[in-house]
Amino acid sequence: MEVIIQRDYEQMSKTAAQIVVEVLNAKPNAVLGMATGSTPLGLYQELVRLHKEEQLDFSRVTTFNLDEYVGLPVNHPQSYHYFMREHFFKHVNIPPHNINIPSGTTSNYPAFCEWYEERIAECGGIDLQILGIGSDGHIAFNEPTSSLSSRTRLKTLSEQTINDNARFFDRKEDVPIYAITMGVGTILDARQLLLVASGKAKAWAIAQAVEGPVTSVVTASALQLHRDATVIVDDEAASELTMRDYYEFIYAKKPAAPKF
Ligand code: PGA
Repeated sequence: MEVIIQRDYEQMSKTAAQIVVEVLNAKPNAVLGMATGSTPLGLYQELVRLHKEEQLDFSRVTTFNLDEYVGLPVNHPQSYHYFMREHFFKHVNIPPHNINIPSGTTSNYPAFCEWYEERIAECGGIDLQILGIGSDGHIAFNEPTSSLSSRTRLKTLSEQTINDNARFFDRKEDVPIYAITMGVGTILDARQLLLVASGKAKAWAIAQAVEGPVTSVVTASALQLHRDATVIVDDEAASELTMRDYYEFIYAKKPAAPKF
């Protein structure tokens, strides 16, 4: 796992956007795995800027979102369909039929989950999966004790996640209790993983994910099993990492490292 520590949120977002750019330069028809939440907003803003000012092209890109709340229609302001449209899709040129987001309103969840997995495979698998991390260490909505080989399915949110996400809703009671989410196994199948985290509230989760044991109690720790995972954090999110100096040393020495 590569750990990149940046001084602030803006630098974290720009560095993450450069990784997306590298993937698109190498493969203009890449399949991108998208994440929602407040953390990737800066990354999406930077990609939108690159699209508008530097002609970064998404016309051949396909996307798969990680998750969606159960019960929220696509036009609900807190749905992830709405989030993605407002913050990213309506500003770039991804063909609408190339955009895939789990349904929070299907009448048959098991069939939908199976179809979602098949659709990812049909598109050749995910080239780069963008991830945030919950304060409880989750990736997507894979809450503590989610199987590390899980696939797309329904999950019940943890109390901590419901509390964390209550800030986006009028009342805590309005936060959906269930979500449809890619599994940890689905995420690990992506060719490349990119996790972003910012702020003190993520410091514990990041330390556990990067330096703790691989455990279903912190599903982000499954990144340790992946051969191409990058974690980009700001100063505060890095504050509980014990090997911080080493990560900074590796990053500083990277330009001179032998190329394979
Ligand atoms: P956040 O959510 O970016 O809004 O903190 C992250 C997550 O729960 O995955």
